[in-house]
Amino acid sequence: MSLAASASVEANLSSKPVSGVRARPFVRAVRQLLAVQTPPGPAIEHELGRVCALIDGGGWTDDRLQGTDHPVTRHLGAALSSVVKPARALAEELARLAPSLPWKYGYAPRQNDPDLGEQIAFAELLGPTAPLRSDVLCLGVTLIAPGTLYPPHRHPAIELYLVLSGTALWSAGGRSGLRPPGALVLHPSEVVHSMETRAEPLLALYSWTGADVRTTSRYT
Ligand SMILES: [Fe+2]
Repeated sequence: MSLAASASVEANLSSKPVSGVRARPFVRAVRQLLAVQTPPGPAIEHELGRVCALIDGGGWTDDRLQGTDHPVTRHLGAALSSVVKPARALAEELARLAPSLPWKYGYAPRQNDPDLGEQIAFAELLGPTAPLRSDVLCLGVTLIAPGTLYPPHRHPAIELYLVLSGTALWSAGGRSGLRPPGALVLHPSEVVHSMETRAEPLLALYSWTGADVRTTSRYT
């Protein structure tokens, strides 16, 4: 990101949460980014095609964003500033939306890790309870602080991630690997998965599709 764009990121990130900003430009930026992806195999290619078709089908209501504050957003500026092409346009859209993003954590507190809810958050812009309403597709971003384990979890939805910034250790179905920016990661329905950040925050775009995108994720 250019110095000017980085300065605008900082200006937006220093703002208080605001409401009334439209979410549709985010969806357009996501669609443009997905259009230039090269899927590493047929399963991801199939899911990528499904997500793009659902976006192109539209049909969601046009609600405005309602910004919420969350401690993990202290890492958003660093995460956005390190995003490189071809995801830079989406990063710039996220910087514009920053004070309006609806950050949530959503899991119950864990006894052995009571501060986890301050290290992880999700801003879902399209979905059953998101500003843009859809019962068949969720779109959002996950932000995880450095040095954090997002513990093993599962959900009925099929999940496709695109790493925007930060190289973390991703595990799913008993296999683990470091996934750099630009990586596409598929989590089939109910497959247990986790992420563990290193020195950098992780910012990743996600989609949910399948028969049930309403049931929330749960720790295993
Ligand atoms: Fe997941």
